[in-house]
Amino acid sequence: MHFLPAEIIKAKRNGESLSYEDINEFILGYARGHIPDYQMSALLMAIFFKGMTTEETLALTKAMLHSGEVVDFSTVPGFKVDKHSTGGVGDKTSLILGPIVAAAGVPVPMISGRGLGHTGGTLDKLESIPGFNTQKSLPEFIELVRKHLICFIGQTKEICPADKKIYALRDVTATVESLPLICASIMSKKLAEGIDGLVLDVKYGSGAFMKTSAQAEELALNLMSIARGYGKKVTSLLTNMDQPLGRYAGNSLEVEECVAIMKNEKFIGPGGYDLYEDTRELSLQLSAHMLLLAGVGRDEKESYKMASDILTSGKAMAKFEELCQIHGGNLAALPKPKHKVDVTTEHEGHVHGFHTESIGVAGIIIHAGRAQTTGIIAPTAGIEFHVKVGDAVKPGDRIFTLHGDDKDLLQSAVPLLKSAINISLPKITKPSLILKILK
Ligand code: URA
Repeated sequence: MHFLPAEIIKAKRNGESLSYEDINEFILGYARGHIPDYQMSALLMAIFFKGMTTEETLALTKAMLHSGEVVDFSTVPGFKVDKHSTGGVGDKTSLILGPIVAAAGVPVPMISGRGLGHTGGTLDKLESIPGFNTQKSLPEFIELVRKHLICFIGQTKEICPADKKIYALRDVTATVESLPLICASIMSKKLAEGIDGLVLDVKYGSGAFMKTSAQAEELALNLMSIARGYGKKVTSLLTNMDQPLGRYAGNSLEVEECVAIMKNEKFIGPGGYDLYEDTRELSLQLSAHMLLLAGVGRDEKESYKMASDILTSGKAMAKFEELCQIHGGNLAALPKPKHKVDVTTEHEGHVHGFHTESIGVAGIIIHAGRAQTTGIIAPTAGIEFHVKVGDAVKPGDRIFTLHGDDKDLLQSAVPLLKSAINISLPKITKPSLILKILK
C-alpha cells in the first residue's frame, strides 16, 4: 500500500495507535528529507495531545535508533555502563563518576550533550579545559574506551540522525514536553551507545524538566521499560533539583569543584558545612549503582564503599588526569574568572527554596549557558552558591557570587538572581538529595 503521511497524522490526531511500520516509515522519511517539516510538526503535535502506547513508544525509539548506527563495543571486554541525567543546574556528576567507575575497571563510554536552556552540558564543562577535544570518530572512541575504559564524545552524525532533526523541530514547535517523545529521544541515543547497563538520574523540582517527583517517577518508569525492552540493565535515582547542586554552576568553575572533590578537599560555607557535599554524595551514589549493575560489589553498601575508596585514594583523580591527557586537555591551564560580583539579601530568615530555573537563566545571561544551539559559551562564567535550603540568613549575607570576565554582564544578572531565592522566617528541614531508587 502506498504510504501517505497525512493518513498517519490523521490516525494519531484521532487517537488511534500507530504500527511500527507506519512510525518507522514516517521517521525515516523525515530523516532522509522525503517528509517535510510541516508534516512532521503536525505528527509531533498529534502525539503531544494524544500520547502513545508503550508499544508505540518502543516502536518510535526503535525507528530513531535505527536511523543511524549502534556503536559496536564487541572488541571491548566487560560490562559497559553509562549514566544519563535529565539535566539540572550545577549538575556535574559525570566528571566524577566516570573516572570512579573506570578506575574500578568498568568501561564507561560517554556520549554527552551540550548545555541548552537553563541546564548545563558535560561537553561544555570539559571543553573549558584548554585543549580538551571531544570530537573523535566512532572508531577512535571505541579504541579509547578499550585502552583507557573511559572517553567522552559528543553526538556524532552517525548516532540517531532522526533524533537530531526531530529534537530541533520540537524545540520550535512547542512539542518538547511530551513523555513518549522525551523517552524515545533519550533512549534512542543511549541505546545507540552500545552499552549493557544504564543508571538514570531523573531530576525533579524547580530546576528540572519535571517539576514534581510524580512526573519524574513516571518518566523514570517509562525510560526503564524501554531500556529493559532492549535487554539492558537499568536503575533510576529520583533526585532533588529544587536547588542547584554543589558550590558552582558554570563550566570551568564546575571542573574546579570536581577536581577539588577528587582531591578530597572540602569547602566549608557560611552555614558551617561542606558545600561540595551534595555533589560528592550524588556522584558516589550514582557510581555505586553503575558498579552494582556491572556486578562489581555484592550489594549497594559494598559498591558504595568501593566507589568511596576509589575517590578518597586519589584513583579517581588519576583517572581524570588520564582522561584529560587522552583528550589533549591541559588541566593546569584551567582558566580563572577575572571578576566577581556578589549578590546579597536584604531579608532575615531561612532559605525556603530557589527558583532554580531562573538561576539557570541567569547563567545564560552571563554566557555560562546558551539559549540557542549556536550560542557562545564563556568558559569562566558561572554562579557560586553560598547557601542551601534550610540555612539561616540575615540582611547583608552573600547568597550568590557571579564570576566571569565581563563585569557589566555579571552586573546585569543581579536582579534576576535576587529574585531567585525564597527567604521566610520559619525554620525548615533540609530536603533529601535522593528521594527514591527504582530498580
Ligand atoms: N533530552 C533529550 O535528549 N531529549 C528530550 O526529548 C529531552 C531531553
